[in-house]
Amino acid sequence: METAATIKEVRAQIKEWKRQGLSIGLVPTMGYLHEGHGSLMKRAREECDRVVVSIFVNPLQFGINEDFDRYPRDLQADAVLCRAEGVDLIFHPEAEEMYQEGFCSFVDMDGLTGELCGKSRPNHFRGVCTVVSKLFHIVTPDKAFFGQKDAQQLAVIRRMARDLDMDVEIVGCPIIREEDGLAKSSRNTYLNPEERRAALILSQTIRLGRQMVEEGMTDAKALVAAMKENIAREPLAKIDYVEAVSMDTIEKVDRIEGAVLVAMAVYIGKTRLIDNFIAQA
Ligand code: PAF
Repeated sequence: METAATIKEVRAQIKEWKRQGLSIGLVPTMGYLHEGHGSLMKRAREECDRVVVSIFVNPLQFGINEDFDRYPRDLQADAVLCRAEGVDLIFHPEAEEMYQEGFCSFVDMDGLTGELCGKSRPNHFRGVCTVVSKLFHIVTPDKAFFGQKDAQQLAVIRRMARDLDMDVEIVGCPIIREEDGLAKSSRNTYLNPEERRAALILSQTIRLGRQMVEEGMTDAKALVAAMKENIAREPLAKIDYVEAVSMDTIEKVDRIEGAVLVAMAVYIGKTRLIDNFIAQA
């Protein structure tokens, strides 16, 4: 496994692999890797000849009062996981490598970003789209792998790739959970033991919502209200949003018809956690 810090090094390696006719899979990450990322790497390993993992805590996608400075980082542990998953190349650039002085070009999206996380994190998806499109230009992957946990991000990236004719297949992979149900996230490390227990309200509420849909609930407002009521039972939880939206446009829906994304962001103490399920009616 190689590690590259510069775009030049990555391009040289990619050029050589392409010369050999090898396909390339990219797993973009911000590091502090866990089994969720591991599952993306496994899938990339299965579907591509060479696997590149980018590890870059992208300053552009954090708001001023968000956790950029304290976002957990552990490159050594990340490298151990990548090696175990058979990754071929880690791309770990410094911010100056990705954003040269005078950087002023961004990828922005008018649709899909007005609801859910886009509402409470106004410039977040501009930062995500910009860095992901840069990574696509640098690595030129055949396939790129993203987790369904960040469902809005996955929809946004799919749309960006489609709208801007990016020659890459976007592969969405299932949410990976702890044994007790909590969706795996690098941010789970912020939780103290009491908060860790309280955080189970997210997955419990996802189960409740899923069950209500299975039992025939088609009224999106009533579904969301019942889920919010359930979260409110947990004193440490503060709801950012619970919404039912179209999978394609990320606009609110009135009815659960076809595939609808039911997504939530909830603060547990100071930590903002997200979770979701796809309701099929
Ligand atoms: O999901 C993430 O970890 C990040 O948003 C991504 C896609 C790596 C872009 O920085």
